Amino acid sequence: MKIKQLSLFVAAFISCKFAMAAPENFQEKVASGEYIATTGDCAACHTVSGSAPFTGGLKMVTPVGAIYSTNITPDKDTGIGNYSYEDFSRALRQGIAKDGHRLYPAMPYTEYAKINDDDMHALYSYLMNEVKPVHQTNRKSDIPWPLNMRWPLAAWDWAFHDSDVYKPDQTQSAEWNRGAYLVQGLTHCGTCHTPRGLAYQEKGFDQHDKRFLSGGQLAGWSAPDLTGNSKTGLGSWSAQEIAEFLKTGHTDGNAAFGPMSEAIEKSTQYLTDADLSAIATYLKSLPSSDAPAQASAKADSTSAALIKGDMSQPGSLLYMNNCSACHRIDGKGYTKSFPALAGNTAVMGDDPSSLINIVLAGAKTPVTRESITGLTMPDFAWRLNDQQVADVVTFIRSSWGNSASAVNAEEVAKLRKQSVGQPEVKK
Ligand code: HEC
Ligand code: HEC
Ligand code: HEC
Repeated sequence: MKIKQLSLFVAAFISCKFAMAAPENFQEKVASGEYIATTGDCAACHTVSGSAPFTGGLKMVTPVGAIYSTNITPDKDTGIGNYSYEDFSRALRQGIAKDGHRLYPAMPYTEYAKINDDDMHALYSYLMNEVKPVHQTNRKSDIPWPLNMRWPLAAWDWAFHDSDVYKPDQTQSAEWNRGAYLVQGLTHCGTCHTPRGLAYQEKGFDQHDKRFLSGGQLAGWSAPDLTGNSKTGLGSWSAQEIAEFLKTGHTDGNAAFGPMSEAIEKSTQYLTDADLSAIATYLKSLPSSDAPAQASAKADSTSAALIKGDMSQPGSLLYMNNCSACHRIDGKGYTKSFPALAGNTAVMGDDPSSLINIVLAGAKTPVTRESITGLTMPDFAWRLNDQQVADVVTFIRSSWGNSASAVNAEEVAKLRKQSVGQPEVKK
């Protein structure tokens, strides 16, 4: 129960939408606390849209009850106004609050532990001096006794948590080290992109573990492999494309969606070009999680069949009627607007959850400083039944040279309940 419960804490935060007062120009302010708070995306969980910044109260639903993020404004009664620097760094590095209680690992102290002292001081000083104190009492979790006891978390920390600060690797360049520091720590990419074990611990916190960033799951979405895997990871992406994706929300052929859109909108788009390029350099150095995996073949027999009107492949007619207007017959989409499905690493991941979710619920491309209008992918939950969604997703995973496992109607039914909250409409 405890394990299952933990497994949803972190997963839950992604399903929420938040607003953040966006800082304008960071290019000269890399060392500032505000830049660090943005890079660490504290607002993702501590700012709820409609409430004052950093007052917490974000609900994270679990099967045994909800927990809520806390007020981290410098208010002395309800926030962290009484936290000394030592209290603050202990909370961020060891997951222990000022009064000594253990934090749930929904707060990513497992990665923030890597934040160095200079950045930790700047972050503390920003929250204490530049954020307005707001009196807002924290909500107690709705988890009933005895499941709400926090002492088992000490055992979890003992087993899985390493609270050491990032140690530079002298054999690597300064840029690589900067990227490793950001990815493993502040930007906590691994909370979504690293697979988790039975106790919900991330399997690996740096490149020494080959499961690090090899693809994770969260509340119905799949976060793809970010290693050098050519088929499902970033092996076929250039460093420049990775940086562009994190800054603008798209490359020529890919567009971010779901939880990744939120991470880009609220955090990565504000990173300096130097930091984005450091992140890309580090990611490009990760060896493939599956060395024999090949990029999708360039051979395309699908387009020719569709053009001839050959709809024998299951899902092809559904594709022509519902998808081809935007993603085109050849699956190449339109540069920088409708993403390509042919050769798209996100389409070929072993875990099809994100694809099923985007077809059911639709999506809007991230709105960033570089792309100010979002384009919409319509939702098909009301138009297509489970079998049809399964067929069309299987079709895009196996056409134009793509090759990935088929999807069945049961998988769609499960996600439909989770993402749209409704069973299928029978026609
Ligand atoms: C993925 C969600 C998430 C992110 C991102 C996040 N937090 Fe938290 N944080 C939480 C939750 C949830 C709690 C409460 C945990 C609990 O009650 O056990 C918390 C608790 C805390 C606490 C303890 C406060 C108290 O006394 O209760 C501090 C301090 C804190 N966060 C600071 C930060 C800072 C600074 C950042 C950004 C660098 C950040 N958090 C980013 C989810 C998050
Ligand atoms: C809140 C969870 C979350 C966090 C944090 C997160 N990601 Fe993602 N990411 C996702 C999901 C889900 C997807 C799949 C949707 C998509 O392709 O946009 C994704 C997709 C991506 C893709 C596209 C991969 C592909 O094959 O299409 C890249 C690149 C990426 N993330 C990089 C990063 C980096 C780098 C970080 C840290 C700076 C990061 N992400 C942090 C959830 C997350
Ligand atoms: C009106 C245009 C339109 C139609 C019709 C459409 N899409 Fe999309 N699709 C988009 C846009 C725009 C995005 C990018 C969404 C985002 O980034 O949030 C997208 C994204 C996707 C993605 C994620 C790829 C990536 O890397 O971002 C998949 C998979 C997808 N669509 C499949 C389909 C399927 C299957 C159909 C038919 C059932 C379909 N789409 C119909 C516009 C469309």
